[in-house]
Amino acid sequence: MSSERVLSGMRPTGLLHLGHYHGVLKNWVKLQHESPCFFFVADWHALTTHYETPEVIENNVWDMVIDWLAAGVDPDKATLFIQSRVPEHAELHLLLSMNTPLGWLERVPTYKDQQDKLADRDLATYGFLGYPLLQSADILIYRATQVPVGEDQVPHIELTREVARRFNHMYGRERDFEAKALEAAKKMGNKVMKQLLALRTQFQEKGDRAALDEALALVASAQSLGKADRERLSGYVDGGGKTILVEPQAKLTEASKMPGLDGQKMSKSYQNTLSLRETPDNIALKVRKMPTDPQRVRRNDPGDPDKCPVWQLHEVYSDDSTKQWVQQGCRSAGIGCLECKEPVIQSITRELEPMRERAQAYAADPELVRKVMAQGCERARAVAQETMTDVRQAMGLNYR
Ligand code: TRP
Ligand code: SF4
Repeated sequence: MSSERVLSGMRPTGLLHLGHYHGVLKNWVKLQHESPCFFFVADWHALTTHYETPEVIENNVWDMVIDWLAAGVDPDKATLFIQSRVPEHAELHLLLSMNTPLGWLERVPTYKDQQDKLADRDLATYGFLGYPLLQSADILIYRATQVPVGEDQVPHIELTREVARRFNHMYGRERDFEAKALEAAKKMGNKVMKQLLALRTQFQEKGDRAALDEALALVASAQSLGKADRERLSGYVDGGGKTILVEPQAKLTEASKMPGLDGQKMSKSYQNTLSLRETPDNIALKVRKMPTDPQRVRRNDPGDPDKCPVWQLHEVYSDDSTKQWVQQGCRSAGIGCLECKEPVIQSITRELEPMRERAQAYAADPELVRKVMAQGCERARAVAQETMTDVRQAMGLNYR
């Protein structure tokens, strides 16, 4: 496991389709084996645009989680949770809002873009302006280092970095830093603590780098310490204090090349999708109805795959020999379009079959899904609470 911590969220505003699978979920499934991952349902974010129709969100939360699980996201590997069930996100959002300049939010490109794009809704709200800052809170509260997102979200990660930098600059190291560091050292046992303090002196007074490395290694291997304590101790040993909020990196997910049934990008708004739970019959029906090269009117007209959306699906799903068969057969009118679509139907059916089965099993057992999410929420909340303790302390708010 790397020292990276991954976090990403998805708004529950509609059925998931193959585009989500190829663009996002496949990547999550891979990442969960590489680093600790936090994936969450951004239901509050969905409310910023759907505040008049909250039932849309309610209906989609569980279906979306079921689709994640069906796609292979593993709740034993990744922490899955629902944003509104970790209210600490709202507290951090509020605290960050105190010192975030209005201009930073007004300048985020998605603010004006989305207002124009969703012109049928009134998005001149306080919540919508704060959308990217709530997202910053989502990320910073887990001290995530990597945030897998699409290109459009990069300005939000940039904002998050600026917000973290401003916070750390303004509130600096936490109060009682030394006392807390020593408390953490005590948790390592008397013997190790003495050794650690000796190494620290050796480094800070004599500049002995090897002593520093040894001390940091001791801290890193301390099983009895949580992440916050380990950071504190590392900062105590090297003299740098403790960074309260961590600046994350955007981890660009490759733009999904998943073409829809009409050759445009697969997207709900184009109504050209195949859902992750599409039945085999429906897959066949929808692919058979796909438009093909418009020049190929009759069976013995030759066609051009470059002008055909079906070819784009072959590019995603077919091996070289099948692709050659299409190229050759299409251009020479050797194969018919229905024949050409058959391997695509088979590949998609094969890909979705295990997902549909898993989704059915989860859908039939809502209690199980709720239990899985309750556990995830609890794990997430413990991490979020640890950060909030540090944040409150840094801001002088721990007079409770
Ligand atoms: N804004 C993101 C989207 O529309 C969803 C989201 C909310 C998110 N909070 C996040 C993504 C935190 C990554 C990290 O796709
Ligand atoms: Fe498209 Fe295949 Fe028909 Fe050619 S044969 S037009 S690639 S569906």
